[in-house]
Amino acid sequence: MVSRVIPVEPFDLVIFGGTGDLARRKIFPGLYRRFLAGQMTADSRIIGAARAELSDDDFRATVAKAIAEFVSESRQDPAMIAEFLTRLHYVAIDATGAGGWAALKDLMREGVVRAFYFSVAPTLFGDIALRLSQHGVADAASRIVVEKPFGRDLASARALNATLALHFDETQIYRIDHYLGKETVQNLMAVRFANILFEPLWKAEYVDHVQITVAETVGVEGRGAYYDKSGAMRDMVQNHMMQLLCLIAMEPPYHFDPNAVRDEKLKVIRALDPVRPQDIVRGQYLAGGGQGAYTAHSENPHSTTESYIALRVHVSNWRWKGTPFYLRTGKRLRARASEIAITFKEPPHSIFDDAQGWRENVLVIRLQPDEGMHLKVMIKEPGPGGMRLMQVPLDMSFADALGDDHDDLPDAYERLIMDVIRGNQTLFMRGDEVEAAWAWTDPIIEGWTARGDKPQSYDPGTSGPEDALMLMHRDGRRWREIR
Ligand code: NDP
Ligand code: BG6
Repeated sequence: MVSRVIPVEPFDLVIFGGTGDLARRKIFPGLYRRFLAGQMTADSRIIGAARAELSDDDFRATVAKAIAEFVSESRQDPAMIAEFLTRLHYVAIDATGAGGWAALKDLMREGVVRAFYFSVAPTLFGDIALRLSQHGVADAASRIVVEKPFGRDLASARALNATLALHFDETQIYRIDHYLGKETVQNLMAVRFANILFEPLWKAEYVDHVQITVAETVGVEGRGAYYDKSGAMRDMVQNHMMQLLCLIAMEPPYHFDPNAVRDEKLKVIRALDPVRPQDIVRGQYLAGGGQGAYTAHSENPHSTTESYIALRVHVSNWRWKGTPFYLRTGKRLRARASEIAITFKEPPHSIFDDAQGWRENVLVIRLQPDEGMHLKVMIKEPGPGGMRLMQVPLDMSFADALGDDHDDLPDAYERLIMDVIRGNQTLFMRGDEVEAAWAWTDPIIEGWTARGDKPQSYDPGTSGPEDALMLMHRDGRRWREIR
């Protein structure tokens, strides 16, 4: 199978925060991979911008190091790296000052796509938007890419939307949620809307419940200051998990078109019920496995920020009335495993006896690692001995199905950046969508803050706090194992 790579239009892409961690680990390695794949035309350029006084050559050297560190060895082609580096330039700019903007404007060319990636602290988003427009660097066709977090509550997200809207139209704003750039996350839409098989069953009448798990083995090392003000609810649920929930729960859009898709996601968020206190479990990891406890990385040794959260959520609409969605995410858990599991109900009438081993059908969509899908179905246990049932998986591992092409799949950031250049907003969050997500999130956080709830401790390397198990046991259900 050979994937088709269609070059994007020529562009000038400015990366504010071009010397930062995200740029080094994700953005430049990703851009190099797209270059290697033949997706960047010869006249496209990437311009790094930050306060440090660097020459083009200094900057190229930092990017070369990032490529050496974060691109797999099989893709390290010295001639191609050297060629890629010639596309790079650097401008020293202070987002909060006047210096550097004239130089940046002089670098911008007419007749190519202009995109500005805000890979800086969120406090600078407004400053950059203002100066891009004040200094005439951006034009009416320019695009801006805004990193997360997009606000920390509804009020701050509204304020940020309003600030950006002073200078840019919504069609120019690309709010990143890198989960939407993941191959398997997009596959959710393909699975649902390109197959007749699942859609008739995709409703409360047939779906018993849905589990969405994003488990990580890493802790918050090095990010304690940011994370402590955020916690799992703001860091993961309000954005990444919400997006997964939307893709599972949404109605079919009339077309695979940015606003049609986002309209349907927005309806899901608006249909979410408030979450009852008894349907929320928060946890915080203890020390273990040679690593410190959560509080060792936080500035506050008594921090009550959650590094784990589990929620029982209801989508109050016709399709999903009565089907709970169980969400959980946490750090320092047993394994890195992200998956969505849709458990179907029992057949309305069983012709087999209970003793014959019936178990429910489950469709598991594995996001990472080992991306793939499997559907657990009942078959007859082979051999003599009468009709005994057994559950087997119908497996589709993307690595097996796609062969060599699987290794060539772009990572989330590189795919999303190419979509910015193509002008396709489907995989980016719209302003109203982000606000609706905060409108649902805020009362949950306000509730536990007002009640003075503290997170439960959990040991690293486990599946999280005990109460999270109870959240499902109470309903006669159980979480799938994290592995
Ligand atoms: P870093 O702190 O590593 O980098 C910040 C960058 O901004 C540096 O290049 C810095 O260079 C530049 N900068 C700081 N102040 C100014 C200023 N006043 N004017 C111009 N440039 C400035 O941050 P990250 O790369 O980690 O994060 C960037 C964004 O990406 C944030 O919004 C973060 O939330 C988001 N993000 C990051 C992730 C990650 O894995 N790192 C994951 C998800 C989101 P200099 O000091 O020379 O100016
Ligand atoms: C980021 C969060 O947005 O997503 C991190 O800030 C989290 O805390 C990360 O670790 C998870 O992303 P991925 O792609 O590794 O699942």
